[in-house]
Amino acid sequence: MLALTVLPGKPHSINLEDMPLPPVGDGAVLVRALALGICGTDREIIAGDYGSAPPGEERLILGHESLGRVEETPDGCDLRPGDLVVGIVRRPDPVPCPSCAAGEWDMCRNGRYTERGIKARNGYGSEYFRIEPEFVVKLDPDLGALGVLIEPTSVVAKAWEQCLRIGQRSAAWRPCTALITGAGPIGLLAAMIGVQQGLDVHVYDRNKGGAKPALTRDLGATYHTDFPDLDKLQPDVVMECTGAAPVIARTMGGAAAAGIVCLAGVSGAGHEMTSDIGGFNRAMVLDNQTVFGSVNANHRHYAAAERALDRADPAWLSRLISRRVPLSRWTEAFERRDDDIKVVLDFAAH
Ligand code: BGC
Repeated sequence: MLALTVLPGKPHSINLEDMPLPPVGDGAVLVRALALGICGTDREIIAGDYGSAPPGEERLILGHESLGRVEETPDGCDLRPGDLVVGIVRRPDPVPCPSCAAGEWDMCRNGRYTERGIKARNGYGSEYFRIEPEFVVKLDPDLGALGVLIEPTSVVAKAWEQCLRIGQRSAAWRPCTALITGAGPIGLLAAMIGVQQGLDVHVYDRNKGGAKPALTRDLGATYHTDFPDLDKLQPDVVMECTGAAPVIARTMGGAAAAGIVCLAGVSGAGHEMTSDIGGFNRAMVLDNQTVFGSVNANHRHYAAAERALDRADPAWLSRLISRRVPLSRWTEAFERRDDDIKVVLDFAAH
């Protein structure tokens, strides 16, 4: 089978190579890949800045935003050949820590979790992959090709869930306004869930052209190309999805009183900036603000993601997928183009 592999730590080692079918040890369910979403994490791994191969191996099969069709299932399993599925990314640590033991591997306490296509486990970027039945998410067949958006939506669904849980520290907290920074796939999916919750959603992105302004407006949200005046906007929730240090600096401590800033974009280390820690502390303490980070997702969030995608307009969701690249032209999927939002590698079309 063809598989997209990298040598973690070695920049630009990505290759499409012929490999043996996945070992049964990867899981009893055999899935034929239909599509693979490409994200910033994949680009970081390709650049050699992130990721690790399975123990004892040199190469890592890339890919964590999966979509596939079940080919083979073990006896006594609820899945059937032909089911449309995605694979959960993270696996619990081996200890396991209290969070992983409770099925909340997304909140792993000891950092020894593994992630398919990212950390010490082969990913879903191959014509076939195997997976444990308990880490398969079976999708509503009506979702079709849009099912490839489940994984990024699960990450955003978790971030929203956490914001709303943190907000409950005040019994009277009812969010009205949300600011999303960054109109990439994560930002736009975050805006979509914010709108579904009835919030007045504002999206900040420096891009003036391309599809992002219209995608934002078609959600019923407001698009800003200049960073909004937070004193005026008074956002109850700020979801930071750029990972860009200057944007992060502007959001921290910038929410309304009792407001929440969720950092959901990952930045590279080494972006030093001077900042007024005294002013930050004053805003945080005197306004009861929270700044927190959120990553990954567990079963609950994949289910929430599916509900959110089911409620969304399928035509709007299809516009998020700006390019579908057949596997035979895979290198194009990793080129950066101005109008890109979500690029998907099409495993079915080659
Ligand atoms: C993935 C998450 C993962 C994170 C850190 C993201 O791109 O969507 O599932 O936990 O990278 O590795």
